[in-house]
Amino acid sequence: NLYQKGVKTMYENGIEHVPSKYVLPPSERPNVSSPEAELPDLHLPVIDFAHLQGPNRRQALHSLAHACEHFGFFQLVNHGIAEEVTEKMVNVGKRFFEMPLSEREKYMTADMNAPVRYGTSFNQNRDGVFCWRDFLKLICHPLPQLLPHWPSSPIDLRESAANYAEETRALYMVIVEAIVESLGLNKREETIMKEMEDGSQLMVVNCYPPCPQPDLTVGMPPHSDYGFLTLLLQDDVEGLQILHKHRWLTVRPIPGSFVVNVGDHLEIFSNGRYKSVLHRVLVNSTNCRISVASLLSFPFTSTVRPAVALITPTNPRRYKDTDFATFLDYIKSSDSKNKNFLHTRS
Ligand code: SIN
Ligand code: FE2
Repeated sequence: NLYQKGVKTMYENGIEHVPSKYVLPPSERPNVSSPEAELPDLHLPVIDFAHLQGPNRRQALHSLAHACEHFGFFQLVNHGIAEEVTEKMVNVGKRFFEMPLSEREKYMTADMNAPVRYGTSFNQNRDGVFCWRDFLKLICHPLPQLLPHWPSSPIDLRESAANYAEETRALYMVIVEAIVESLGLNKREETIMKEMEDGSQLMVVNCYPPCPQPDLTVGMPPHSDYGFLTLLLQDDVEGLQILHKHRWLTVRPIPGSFVVNVGDHLEIFSNGRYKSVLHRVLVNSTNCRISVASLLSFPFTSTVRPAVALITPTNPRRYKDTDFATFLDYIKSSDSKNKNFLHTRS
């Protein structure tokens, strides 16, 4: 089936109309041509990582808390990862998708836990309507065990992606520490930093080729991320939108920055104070877009629960305990927009 080969192949074959498999029902289409439905002048909060490290830490932690509570997203600048490392990652990701399909499809598998998985749409084994995305997913932790399974071409993929994975993981640890502090928790009493040392990490390189009818489909449907934090690196092509006050807010790429968002596990850990927010990706008719999402969280074997210090008489426990196995069952079976099973009141 042509759809299973991905959208890059369709684009390369010069397709002029979006096949019906990709056409969303009118109520789910993105409204590309009526931008008044969006929020044109509002921008994501920008957090300066250098401020988090210096004498302005208190103020920066305050901004961080505000962003996580009210947007669930922020853009991180001055993060200290060398431009060479991020550029090589985007570049090698791009070249992976430029290889012949025969090279890429070696990594197609239905096994959600495979160290490498190439695929298309959101979940091609389940989606009724497909979305306009191809992806390469790499499991990154523990790196020495996984690296030999990663694609051997492009020739520099393993080295560039491994460097990138190590640097983002180190950055993540520093952000988690700041987040713990921003929640008013005592770093010495919490075990979270220790747990995160063996935390899960995976990377998804997304490729959204130009689409002849971008108003009929999306690159990714509205979803929230299930981990603790996602660190997103994107090229200079717009596409990501987040839901903010019931409207879609476009994230304008800041060169060299990361888009960081709160995942379900952090929402649970914070007992609902920080929000895991719905986001989606739009496509366009002229530019290919590449993004690299790093999903980091507790170890796959951990139980995720609200921090004890954040459960109080005025803010009682809002979430049930959960774990990755529950999450995997749920993505195989049901509708990705409904995560109500996590709430104690459901
Ligand atoms: C994602 O939601 O994981 C991907 C976002 C993007 O491509 O901008
Ligand atoms: Fe996402």
